[in-house]
Amino acid sequence: MPQNILSQWLNYFKNHRYQKNADIIYQESRDNIANVHGYPTRCFIEITDKCNLKCKFCGHSFIKVKRTNIPDSVIEKIKPLFPYMSEVWVVGFGESLIDPRFFDILAMIPKRIMTRYVSNGLLMNREAARKMVDLRLMDLCISIDAIDEASYFQTRGVNGFNKIIENIKVLNEIKQQKGSKYPELRLSYTFFRSNAEKFLDFIDLAHSLGAVCVSADYLTVYREDLIHESLFWDQELGNRVFKAAQEKCDKLGMILSLPPSFEEAARTEKPGDQPVCYEPWNFVRFRSNGQLSPCCVNDIQLGNLEEKSFDEIWNGKDYQEFRKQVNTFRYDLNCKQCIGWGIRKISDIRYHIKILDTEGKVVTHPEIHFDPARYQDLSLFNSRKTEPLLQANDLSQK
Ligand SMILES: C[S@@+](CC[C@H](N)C(=O)[O-])C[C@H]1O[C@@H](n2cnc3c(N)ncnc32)[C@H](O)[C@@H]1O
Ligand code: SF4
Repeated sequence: MPQNILSQWLNYFKNHRYQKNADIIYQESRDNIANVHGYPTRCFIEITDKCNLKCKFCGHSFIKVKRTNIPDSVIEKIKPLFPYMSEVWVVGFGESLIDPRFFDILAMIPKRIMTRYVSNGLLMNREAARKMVDLRLMDLCISIDAIDEASYFQTRGVNGFNKIIENIKVLNEIKQQKGSKYPELRLSYTFFRSNAEKFLDFIDLAHSLGAVCVSADYLTVYREDLIHESLFWDQELGNRVFKAAQEKCDKLGMILSLPPSFEEAARTEKPGDQPVCYEPWNFVRFRSNGQLSPCCVNDIQLGNLEEKSFDEIWNGKDYQEFRKQVNTFRYDLNCKQCIGWGIRKISDIRYHIKILDTEGKVVTHPEIHFDPARYQDLSLFNSRKTEPLLQANDLSQK
């Protein structure tokens, strides 16, 4: 009994510290203060930016930068921030399970925190699934974009569908054995023009696998040879699928997480709207090279934890400058093309098509370079009938 009371008090003080910080940073963000006292309440920890796949629609297929696992010294500098956090994502631009320290890092995160992971699901073997349950990973999102082996090959360029489904079934079996509802399963889907119709079958698949939620998003086109795959060119198809998907999920009692449809965007988005962003206060992305970035989209590098302390970077010149300009008309180019909730404009082609160079920098403004008439007829781009949409994957990055 006394131990109970002690742990209640300890919990009270832990949560008090968290809540106090959350209030401070909330107010500082609303007051647009650049030099802050509060700490971020959410973060991404990019354990590695290496991947076991090289999906053509993803930057991994063409961005040539040195890939690395996050150094232990950087993890040590992140740990003291956990008391302020409510949500930690153990993911970034890669497949975190490649790094054998994945579970050590997950174990470091206090149980009070919502832990989230996004994976292609291929490396989640029985042992990994067991550890996810034991360490109470809370939210697991598996990206599939397909309803069978053929459609998986079409979008991801390897045979992997059956393996992932098998892995999910093993996870479900372990959850059941251990009487745990965690990790809750989410399946995610990227909309191409050529796979949009299959989304309704995907919802059935997710339901049969016990997923609580299906999330889907528009393809962001990074490469010129995928421009025709954007739903931007067939908005009617997008609107129709979104509507039917919502009806289906309502019937099945599943949560559906979708961006606004084109139809909805046309009703709600107004030209010249100035988006407001609080991510540079509330959130931080710890990248595997030690750099800090202000959100999950903008790759601007605001300081390196291998060289400086978190406090030095968080209130350093670059971070303060970024906070000062993020909600002004001067805001950084990558912000203008943000895909973040509440900031993007679905009606704007720049959200859907953002051609990058081999360093991952934005190189085009599509409205200048692309003629919509060219992309109206998907059948003109029918090379994918004989070849997979995606290149064969290079598994050598492991
Ligand atoms: C970069 S991946 C990292 C995690 C993991 N490797 C995976 O595939 O789930 C995170 C998410 O981004 C999505 N993604 C990658 N490239 C995309 C693109 N061009 N447009 C939209 N979503 C994309 C993936 O499908 C995945 O759900
Ligand atoms: S699995 Fe595919 S989408 Fe995910 S990071 Fe790797 S290459 Fe990108």
